[in-house]
Amino acid sequence: MKSTYEKLFEGNRKWVADTLQRDPTFFEKLSKGQTPPVLWIGCSDSRVPANEITGTLPGEIFVHRNIANMVIHTDMSMLSVLDYSVNILEVTDIVVCGHYGCGGIVAALDNKPLGIVENWLRHIKDVYRLHQRELDAIKDEELKANRLVELNVLEQVFDLTKTSIVQNAWRNKKKLSVHGLVYDVKNGILNEIGHSINNSSELPKYYLVDEI
Ligand code: CO
Repeated sequence: MKSTYEKLFEGNRKWVADTLQRDPTFFEKLSKGQTPPVLWIGCSDSRVPANEITGTLPGEIFVHRNIANMVIHTDMSMLSVLDYSVNILEVTDIVVCGHYGCGGIVAALDNKPLGIVENWLRHIKDVYRLHQRELDAIKDEELKANRLVELNVLEQVFDLTKTSIVQNAWRNKKKLSVHGLVYDVKNGILNEIGHSINNSSELPKYYLVDEI
C-alpha cells in the first residue's frame, strides 16, 4: 500500500488536470504574480487548511501558520510575513484563525514536559493568566479549552494591532482590518469572534508608536 507521502504526487497530477479542465489558463495567470487581499494567520493543525475551509483558490490568501496561531512579537518569520503582506502585497484584511480542539491550547492547559515547544506554549499560558478569573470558573475541561481558544484569538488580534507594521499602515491611511475567527473542527463552520479592528483608537497609549 502506498504511503500518504507517495500519494502526494498522484494527488498533485490529478489536481492539475482537474484545475486545467475548469480553467485552462489558471496556472498561466497565477505565474504572473500574486495579489492576495487577505493575510491568514492560522494553526499548523492539518485539519484547518486555509484555502479548503474557505473555498478559496491558490492566489487568494497569503498564509502564515504556527502552533496555535500565535502572534509573537519576536517571531521574525511572523513579522516578515506581516510586513511583506501589508507593505508589498497590500492586503486589506488580516485574519487570525483559531480552532476548537486545538492541541496547542490543550497542551498549554496541562503541565506535561514537552521539550522545546513548552517555550511556545508559555505564550498561551500568558493569555490564560490575563483571563484567569473567567477561565478558572469554567469547570468543564472542553469548555475551558474552547474559551481559551477564543480568548487566545482575541489576544493575538490585539497583538497584531500593537505592531508598528499595522499602526504605520493605519497612519498612512491604508485600508486594513484585523479580524478574529474560530473554526469548529466538529462541523466545519468558521465564525467571527469579537469585532474587526481598523484603526488604533482602541490601543492603550503606551502601545502607540510615534511617527518616525
Ligand atoms: Co491548533
